Amino acid sequence: MRMVDIITRKRDGKELSQEEIKFFIQHYVAGGIPDYQAAALCMAIYFRGMTHQETTYLTHAMAFSGETLDLHNVAAFVVDKHSSGGVGDKTTLVVAPVVAALGQPVGKMSGRGLSFTGGTLDKLESIPGFTSELSVQKFKAQLADIGVVVAGQTRSLAPADGKLYALRDVTGTVPAIPLIASSIMSKKIAAGADAIILDVKVGEGAFLANLDNARELSQVMMSIGKNLGRKMFAIISDMNQPLGSAVGNALEVKEAIATLHGGGPADFREHVEVISAYMLLAAGKVQSEKEGRQSVCRAIADGSAWAKFRQFVAAQGGDLAYVDQPERLPVAAIQEDFPAPASGYVHRIAAKEIGLASTVLGGGREEMEDKIDPAVGVVVHHKVGDRVIAGEPLLTLHANDPVRLSQALELVDSACTIAPQPVEPLPIIYEVLC
Ligand code: URA
Repeated sequence: MRMVDIITRKRDGKELSQEEIKFFIQHYVAGGIPDYQAAALCMAIYFRGMTHQETTYLTHAMAFSGETLDLHNVAAFVVDKHSSGGVGDKTTLVVAPVVAALGQPVGKMSGRGLSFTGGTLDKLESIPGFTSELSVQKFKAQLADIGVVVAGQTRSLAPADGKLYALRDVTGTVPAIPLIASSIMSKKIAAGADAIILDVKVGEGAFLANLDNARELSQVMMSIGKNLGRKMFAIISDMNQPLGSAVGNALEVKEAIATLHGGGPADFREHVEVISAYMLLAAGKVQSEKEGRQSVCRAIADGSAWAKFRQFVAAQGGDLAYVDQPERLPVAAIQEDFPAPASGYVHRIAAKEIGLASTVLGGGREEMEDKIDPAVGVVVHHKVGDRVIAGEPLLTLHANDPVRLSQALELVDSACTIAPQPVEPLPIIYEVLC
């Protein structure tokens, strides 16, 4: 079998066999297929798509490209959640400790920033000392000890996704349903969770802009998970504007900490309550979304979610001084307000441009080897539907480099629309699929 023939067949719209897909994944992980050929295949998949059967084969090949975890000797039932990628999406930082504090173990494999969206691992690593590179033994031991663990793909767990994720990020091949579905589900399968809650983002700042595509992605992933005996829910949520206020790694950690203390932006808090409630529902800890949300509010109000977050950060090497005093987390040298250009109502705060601005400031990667600047990003002061007065700060840009700041200012300029007529706030959740 030759890689060039596989690329050519997909380029010409043919259906790949299980053997061809396995050949690609096994040889790519082993280093026998160069990045340029893997990128060519991803681009062919982007344009030609994959059948449901091909996507399932790809997911299985990626999931079993390394070790897979069986967690049943450390926890009877494990839940996991995964977002399809958004801007300002720091949900895992809050829901993982909340759900664990309510007695439900959470074992999660997360990713890094992808394209203009942020990544949970990059956010957590803005806490000095925090590591997401865990061995399988450490993953299991931590889950048994404290009931919560968030790790990255390692050389041993879903290594195919680790390599492909980074490659897709810099080759314009992220927004393809088969590639997103296999990336997410391979990690989830390898990490061994019994229940998986998918947070499927839709809108201008998501990889999928319309509800039909978000439903299709949800259904593909749910069917792969259910066929492997996993309990699945998919929650389709808004990503036209950033989630919460903070976009950027340390800024988002600070917002997650505020939310764990009972504060934080209202839309983010609501999102956290819904995702956590479905994690608890999937695990049979509660009987309804309403009961789940009540439990979540209790765990935040009584401080148990915060205590679990501290345990989790400490277990993964993070220095607790920085979470106890979040003002010590990295801070950018320049903080520049972007004023509302007119009085009126906010009609648009485009998540994608805000995400791109954060990337340009250094909060994301433009090339595979780029280092992240944890301090930079954008804080959004108003949401769609808010009334604003001309000149008041709409956004604040946090920058360490004046040249990057001026590029980011150009991006945010095109992200915001203020108009005289009132407009409804955007929904937070569109649909829940089960
Ligand atoms: N999240 C993932 O893990 N993979 C994708 O491809 C997109 C979002």
